[in-house]
Amino acid sequence: MRHLFTKGTDLNAPVIVLFHGTGGTEHDLLPLAQAVAPTSSVLSVRGNVLENGMPRFFRRLAEGVFDEEDLIYRTQELNDFLDQAAADYGFDRNNLIAIGYSNGANIAGSLLFHHPGALRGAILHHPMVPRRGVKLPDLTGVPVFIGAGQNDPICSPRETEELQKLLGDAGASVAVHWERAGHQLTHTEVGAAAEWYKQNIA
Ligand code: MLT
Repeated sequence: MRHLFTKGTDLNAPVIVLFHGTGGTEHDLLPLAQAVAPTSSVLSVRGNVLENGMPRFFRRLAEGVFDEEDLIYRTQELNDFLDQAAADYGFDRNNLIAIGYSNGANIAGSLLFHHPGALRGAILHHPMVPRRGVKLPDLTGVPVFIGAGQNDPICSPRETEELQKLLGDAGASVAVHWERAGHQLTHTEVGAAAEWYKQNIA
């Protein structure tokens, strides 16, 4: 997969893995890694799917309607890529914290749903429920930050609460931060994620 890797100054710190939103690239979220974990190595990945020229991490059938088969396939592909990247760059595969926005938050959520141990924790900005009707793996102690907008037309507050419950019931320690905003990522939300990271990960 297309990606960028930057070695951090603290090689014992978690490696931050970045997943952009629809139409983004591996360059978009680099400032978030800098804001949240400035000493960490960063692996930033570009989604392998194109929708009218816009990179994404998996196909969708319509706005908010995921192509489940492709989601499962792409999640596996991404998990395999993370295994390979850890071997190639020599980082600890078991010490990855994802930061994803929108479609990138959804693929990070899908890693949590389908691949136990894929992520040590995650910051999900405006995620949806990636899949329904499946048993989640044991996520005991996995810290998850969810940033959500009270007026988000894509990820409704109800869906945010559903995701919080699914992850929480699987044992994850979930914190939800609400913004009085829509789907956009605000500075205050990034600040809240950075503060959460300090308290829960660093
Ligand atoms: C998705 O398709 O993953 C969500 O609708 C968010 C987005 O628009 O990318």
